[in-house]
Amino acid sequence: MSGEEPNSPTEAELAEMNRDQLVTLGNALDGVELVDYPTPWPVPGTRAEKRAERLVAVWFLISGIAGLAFVVAMIWWPWQYQTPDSSKAFAYSLYTPILGVTLGIAILGLGIGALLYTKKFIPAETAIQERGDNAGAGSKEIDRQTILAELADAGTRTTIGRRSLIKRSAGLGAGMLGLATAALPLASFIKDPWKDTNNQDSLWHTGWQPQSPGEVVYMRRNTGKLEDEDGKLLPVSLVKVEDLDAGGMETVFPYRKSEAGDHEKLAAALVRSDNPVMLIRLRPADAARVVKRENQTDFNFGDYYAYTKVCSHVGCPTSLYEQRTNRILCPCHQSQFDALHYAKPIFGPATRPLAQLPITVDADGYLIARGDFIEAVGPAFWERKS
Ligand code: FES
Repeated sequence: MSGEEPNSPTEAELAEMNRDQLVTLGNALDGVELVDYPTPWPVPGTRAEKRAERLVAVWFLISGIAGLAFVVAMIWWPWQYQTPDSSKAFAYSLYTPILGVTLGIAILGLGIGALLYTKKFIPAETAIQERGDNAGAGSKEIDRQTILAELADAGTRTTIGRRSLIKRSAGLGAGMLGLATAALPLASFIKDPWKDTNNQDSLWHTGWQPQSPGEVVYMRRNTGKLEDEDGKLLPVSLVKVEDLDAGGMETVFPYRKSEAGDHEKLAAALVRSDNPVMLIRLRPADAARVVKRENQTDFNFGDYYAYTKVCSHVGCPTSLYEQRTNRILCPCHQSQFDALHYAKPIFGPATRPLAQLPITVDADGYLIARGDFIEAVGPAFWERKS
């Protein structure tokens, strides 16, 4: 390297220069000397070169196929919840893993393809640059032209122009991955939350909604076992008003008499995600300090209060109740809700109270729901107002 500052060409000289000359000039102005700039495949069309090309294309192809599989699985794979004893439960259980694996392979395939292409087809140059301020002595126009020439030169040296197999497979891989990425947010528009809003399975209702006028929905425990050793259904354990001690808490699920003897329905009620309710019996001194929410002043029965266990932040189970402070805790992101204050959030990221279930007691002393929640349980979504 000479270390001498090259003379800046005049405008007329610059206009006359071809690409190689511009590249040389750009390097010189930046104080860069190219020691070695070997072409990876000096003899075009050898078997080794074709093999390398096919290898790169295969990875891009794998990426494209996986991206397409992701979109197909997202739309057509059975995604609706199935109870564990359902014949469709296995297919349903594969839904999330399939989405994860296909999207993962699509990203990985594209990454490996790009990496292999860089390794096998892009010249590995050896250059030396003097330490110091090599901002260059050229004008803005010289900088612009030399940079464009260097980019064009680099593009040519990658030989991508004559590798149509790689171009097509990379286009397929990137296109499918783009489609898969776009499908993720678009999929949320497929289900119309306003369609059939009275349906128990819509976003607005839970399993506590009576399925016919006047139907009584009881509170039931999860005893862990539905059947005895002989396969006979065990009696359902319903919650009576004297069952909980003051300061106690129990998780309860809906039960209706029409489910008696129906194994599938009894099992489904225990696993439906918006069913679990935290039934709390406050201590009398605490109950005297309760602040009720407007429109919910008669939702409790005496010292009994029932709140959904679906956290209003992002839907984790708020499964901890601290008797001493009357706080309901969500372990996911540490939101805390005040059970004496209609379960409004007092700490953490949650911003809305837990939905409260209206409850009462029937003539036999069983705790029952007086209807469904009056708002959607769980996290916010665009269409909900509260
Ligand atoms: S889901 Fe409960 S705090 Fe985040």
